[in-house]
Amino acid sequence: MAMDPHRRRQERLDRLRGSKPAPKKDDDEFGPMGNGPPGRGANKLIFFVAAFIFIGVGYFGWEYVERYSAQFLSGANPSDLAQIQAGREIYYANCAYCHGDYLEGQEDWDLAYPTGNRPPVPLDATGPAPGHSDDLLFRIIKNGGQSVSPEGYRNTMPAYASLLEDWEIWAVVAFIEAQWPADIRRQRDALQNK
Ligand code: HEC
Repeated sequence: MAMDPHRRRQERLDRLRGSKPAPKKDDDEFGPMGNGPPGRGANKLIFFVAAFIFIGVGYFGWEYVERYSAQFLSGANPSDLAQIQAGREIYYANCAYCHGDYLEGQEDWDLAYPTGNRPPVPLDATGPAPGHSDDLLFRIIKNGGQSVSPEGYRNTMPAYASLLEDWEIWAVVAFIEAQWPADIRRQRDALQNK
């Protein structure tokens, strides 16, 4: 940096008088670290705090948008990531302890139970669920298994009408269907609207 003429003149005067040179202006300007403008450390801290808040707001904002957008859906769309994500949370909070963490159901579900009390069936593609339309799956979950069972058969699949909103039930149906292979989902398309 070019030395400003005022200071050069001052230094010459100081030398003539034999006194110490005036403190360099630059030293004051650059602070105790001497490398960079003042307040660099503070800027870094502000940057990290801002980044942290930005990521936090982004993450929880996205969670909120997912749930919010899923609320307007009436019907299951197993390609809708927001609806699937909402359904995943509902599944693990309400269904996994009977139907399993991997939708695998419980042992011996496929034996004959003429009078009911069948163990929880798998909800993945190895079970009977892909054979039902979206609408039937919705009604089983909302009104319980008994509502679609013949007389004399005791179906212990509970009704969720008082626990889940309709959009939540559609979301869990979408989550379940999203676990099925694509070809099974395609075959099922013929079932819809029945
Ligand atoms: C208390 C245990 C239990 C819980 C909790 C439970 N289920 Fe079930 N569910 C069953 C049983 C048992 C059956 C099989 C009933 C039968 O066929 O007799 C069943 C059957 C079903 C079926 C019908 C499958 C078919 O193709 O026949 C669906 C769909 C289903 N459950 C979805 C759910 C969902 C979604 C949840 C959570 C919101 C849930 N279940 C929670 C026990 C449970």
